[in-house]
Amino acid sequence: MPELSDVTRGRILYGGDYNPEQWPRSVWREDVRLMREARVTTATVGVFSWARLEPRPGARDFGWLDEVLDLLHEGGIEVCLATPTASPPPWMGARHPETLPRDESGATVWYGARNQFCASSPIYCEYALRITEDLAERYGGHPAVRMWHVGNEYGTHCWCDTTARHFRRWLRTRYGGLDALNEAWGTAFWSQRYDSWEEIIPPRRAQYLVNPTQALDFRRFTSDALLECFTTERDVLADRTPHAPVTTNFMPLFIGQDGWAWAAEEDVVSVDVYPDPKDPHAAAYGAMVQDLTRSQAGGPWVLMEQAAGPVNWRGVNHPKPPGLMRLWSLQAVARGADVVCFFQWRQSRQGSEKFHSGMVPHAGEHSRTFQQVRGLGAELRRLGGVVGRGVPAGAAILHDWHAWWATVQDGRPSARLDYPQVVRAWHRALWEQNLTTDFAHPHADLTDYALVAVPQLYLLTDEALDNLVGYVRGGGTLVCGFFTGVADEDDRVRPGGVDQRLRDLLGIRTVHEWWPLDEGETVTAHGPSWPAGFTATLWSEDLEPSTAETVARIKGGELDGGPAITRNRHGAGTAWYVSTLPEPAALRALPARAADEAGLRPPLPGLPEGVEAVFRGEHLFLLNHGRTPAVVPLPSARTDLLTGRVYDTEVGLDRSAAVVLAPLDSPHPKGAAPCTERLESSS
Ligand code: GAL
Ligand code: ZN
Repeated sequence: MPELSDVTRGRILYGGDYNPEQWPRSVWREDVRLMREARVTTATVGVFSWARLEPRPGARDFGWLDEVLDLLHEGGIEVCLATPTASPPPWMGARHPETLPRDESGATVWYGARNQFCASSPIYCEYALRITEDLAERYGGHPAVRMWHVGNEYGTHCWCDTTARHFRRWLRTRYGGLDALNEAWGTAFWSQRYDSWEEIIPPRRAQYLVNPTQALDFRRFTSDALLECFTTERDVLADRTPHAPVTTNFMPLFIGQDGWAWAAEEDVVSVDVYPDPKDPHAAAYGAMVQDLTRSQAGGPWVLMEQAAGPVNWRGVNHPKPPGLMRLWSLQAVARGADVVCFFQWRQSRQGSEKFHSGMVPHAGEHSRTFQQVRGLGAELRRLGGVVGRGVPAGAAILHDWHAWWATVQDGRPSARLDYPQVVRAWHRALWEQNLTTDFAHPHADLTDYALVAVPQLYLLTDEALDNLVGYVRGGGTLVCGFFTGVADEDDRVRPGGVDQRLRDLLGIRTVHEWWPLDEGETVTAHGPSWPAGFTATLWSEDLEPSTAETVARIKGGELDGGPAITRNRHGAGTAWYVSTLPEPAALRALPARAADEAGLRPPLPGLPEGVEAVFRGEHLFLLNHGRTPAVVPLPSARTDLLTGRVYDTEVGLDRSAAVVLAPLDSPHPKGAAPCTERLESSS
């Protein structure tokens, strides 16, 4: 199987989406000149070119693409060639309206924007397959083409009749018989029993709450149906060009795809990351998405898209202050990216994204943005030594799309429960401690992690529960958040409200009630580690411990005196339970204490606030996300790969500054030892 390393070959790749069909030929030459100036290695071509490549059904117009690929190749730019299937041409919708998606109430989602296809439509699928075959045939052997980019940000939904038939086929495979389906969906309630398969439909607009397991299965189905579109194209490409890895770009922590299942089908995992420059926690958000992507990839990954400046899809779109684009690009490399790309190379003058930044903005090559793009390209060339290296992580956050899907249903204890917000808060707590964190599936082997955090997994399978029990028994430290282990795979509430295995593990006899909190409502809790107390939001619970000790207690309100945080010894390990969402400082203190007990330490002692420190192999990345300069003490002298400068005892970092520090006489061994020991032993 081809891998990312076949394409990177010891370099950090650099570039972006290149959409030359928007421009006259004269600009193409200019583009190649500027790409060379910016040290661009890679252009992603043809992501939205379908109408240009196939102007009418079955016709082919490849001449322009021949020319573009040849020009790029002459300029030494490699190509990640896209299949254009994210955006079918208008003729498809006009001639075959059944390829257009229908929303929950049956209304057609029209062409005129992009992504208007029904994943279950055989007609769409057939056209997608043919253009993919022809692209593979024509360009598979082109010397510039190194990798395939299939579709773009798969995420459409459809509730049409074709989808209904496809959904039924999927359900037959899952359940075998109707009895099993009726049982799993709990159709005894509200007279929902299905007597024949033909009666079953996607969860369309209805009078009141739709069956939650039907809705959950429809999310599972939709992810699978889209994945089928991807794998159909992938198989064609793998067959014709076995040397070129295949990827598709994910949206960050996106609800519409089971990211674990999808990643398993890709040669290379890619993601698009667009933190808001105005968000004070943007760097934490970026780190979270990057950690998730690295974990999906199980190694180096591709930053397929980011913005050189502002995007155009927020209410207010902020540019990046000088240095921020560089800082966030280096953050991605620190967290495992071997490719740093942008959307898009040249900013459009027309169309819906003309106010979205590009590497070459409207202001042209003398713009500040292009100067920074050029600077970054030159710097990334010095980072060949980090390519392919791992990012050692001692902690893991458990995340599962199925649990997320089950959580978003209507009719639950609190509509304010926001799964990504909870995951973000927990990841940020670890990130602010500079504890490098992987994400893991709840069934994954956890033995190598000193600390495992479960921010909130409402649905846990039997296998996942047994896995958690085994992990703690074997000596692991688990920190488990509220409203976890409530439902089984079919969204059936576990006997006792929370699974017995989890309650035993946590040392909790009974969860009497969920007490979700209103907007603006807080609870206060105190404990030896939080003598001043802390406030918490979103959620609280009426708990009765069995063997667990209460380490923070609620003060005041309906739950006065009840446990907020508990800790239980189980087997050779420890299991903490956090029944609310502590304010950030308190949440930070929690994994810090648990990590400390588990022997997990940040890569460097005494890191100033706002400075991110992360090891990639033996290279120490220091990134200043704070608004003020910072000084980082060093236990041993190191060299900055970007500047060649040697730092003996400390590193001064201006706002948005970053260094990539290699040991002085770096032998660059593969598979470097975990970061914590490394620096401590060299100090
Ligand atoms: C991505 C998409 C790109 C472009 C970009 C703008 O989601 O893949 O095509 O639209 O957003 O930020
Ligand atoms: Zn459809």
